[in-house]
Amino acid sequence: MERTLAIVKPDAVARGKIGEIMRRFEEAGLRISALKMVRLNKRQAEEFYHVHRARPFFDSLTTFMASGPVAVLVLEGEAAISTVRTIMGATDPARASPGTIRRDLGTSIEQNAVHGSDSRESAGFEVSYFFRGAETFDYDRVDRRGGG
Ligand code: CDP
Ligand code: MG
Repeated sequence: MERTLAIVKPDAVARGKIGEIMRRFEEAGLRISALKMVRLNKRQAEEFYHVHRARPFFDSLTTFMASGPVAVLVLEGEAAISTVRTIMGATDPARASPGTIRRDLGTSIEQNAVHGSDSRESAGFEVSYFFRGAETFDYDRVDRRGGG
């Protein structure tokens, strides 16, 4: 079992896509083990994205991430990190595969609807950035096979 952090970014929250994005994760068999809404301030967005601090897009990205509330979730499952990255699609919605979240819901390389951790190391940092242990939950998915 692996854990990863996903964020429904401010653009997707504003366009009413929280449910649509969570549905795609759940339908891939991932378990939502924590979730909440947060409004990051600029400094918090900079902390969260500190690995990108030297990148030319850092100021614009962190301003965008602080521009409105986000929905933050911990997703758990086999190979959860790569599964989420596949469902999200490539960073640039124009280059993302058809059927991915970013292709369907993203509007620009910056406003690309969703974030997902890219490694076990970043997932560890990102989950603990938003959630304490008592805020994540273990439960069994009891999906009916073939029934939906
Ligand atoms: O989110 P992902 O891991 O796919 O991409 P990243 O390279 O870690 O970049 C983090 C975020 O910065 C992206 O999701 C975009 O929102 C933004 N970005 C941007 O605005 N312009 C770029 N050229 C690259 C990324
Ligand atoms: Mg990344």
